[in-house]
Amino acid sequence: MVKFFILLPCTFHPVSCALHKQSVMTKQAPIGVFDSGYGGLTILDKIRELMPEYDYLYLGDNARAPYGSRSFEVVYEFTLQAVRYLFNEGCHLVILACNTASAKALRTIQQRDLPQINPENRVLGVIRPTVESIPGLTKTNHIGVLGTPGTIASGSYPIEIHKLFPQAVVTVEACPMWVPLVENGEYDKPGADYFVKKHLDRILNKDVHIDTLVLGCTHYPLLEDKMKSYLPDSIRILSQGQHVAESLKDYLRRHPEMDACCSKKTSCRFLTTESPEKFSDMASVFLNEPVDAERIILG
Ligand code: DGL
Repeated sequence: MVKFFILLPCTFHPVSCALHKQSVMTKQAPIGVFDSGYGGLTILDKIRELMPEYDYLYLGDNARAPYGSRSFEVVYEFTLQAVRYLFNEGCHLVILACNTASAKALRTIQQRDLPQINPENRVLGVIRPTVESIPGLTKTNHIGVLGTPGTIASGSYPIEIHKLFPQAVVTVEACPMWVPLVENGEYDKPGADYFVKKHLDRILNKDVHIDTLVLGCTHYPLLEDKMKSYLPDSIRILSQGQHVAESLKDYLRRHPEMDACCSKKTSCRFLTTESPEKFSDMASVFLNEPVDAERIILG
């Protein structure tokens, strides 16, 4: 059973929020969902499928994506700006639908910033719920993890996997070009094949016993069809969205005080730091529904 979880946007609701007993009428608010760009939409999509009744506020920092090759300090600074923005929009719960931000910024934000900003708000990441779903999947105990250079360099996946699954053999591979391919709408074009095959060949050459490949980046599900065409049927691809969605649902069940702070009118707003037209076009394709994004400035 997954035990973790996530967040997003806002409608006013004249109901007192159980987390904030001291305030007379705290507003219920959407669950915030943050990613460096479009990748978090793959998580949002699964969350909305599982929990359509909630409101969501998605923020993509497209103007500064990709985060994957940026330093710890910069990823932390950008992520904190986004979290503050979503809190200022009223969100009580924010999900970092980004592995790079989860790997490089989540712990510091949870431990250092949240107590000062608002100790009753919550920020949740995507790595732990993903890792919790691995043990039931692999038969060989040999696991491959694909991610951005930042996520891979952080060592977060091997560390978290070995905490839950000490006997696992974990092999990692950084795929620096995969996020740019998605951000630029090239993920389903022939040019993407070269980079997809290159990194699959590399990780499978490092360990021929891998039977489970974890997509440790929320952008990567967009490349899943291409990946499947280069992988034998015996290798399973672990995509995060469903596991994150189930973890969030479980988290809200276990935290009714937070659930009471989440508005439930089935709305979804989209914010981007880049062109709202470009975001709306891309997001409409990702989500298979019309999207009308608003531009915001972070920093
Ligand atoms: N979707 C982000 C992740 O899961 C991509 C990071 C990036 O912007 O490079 O890591």
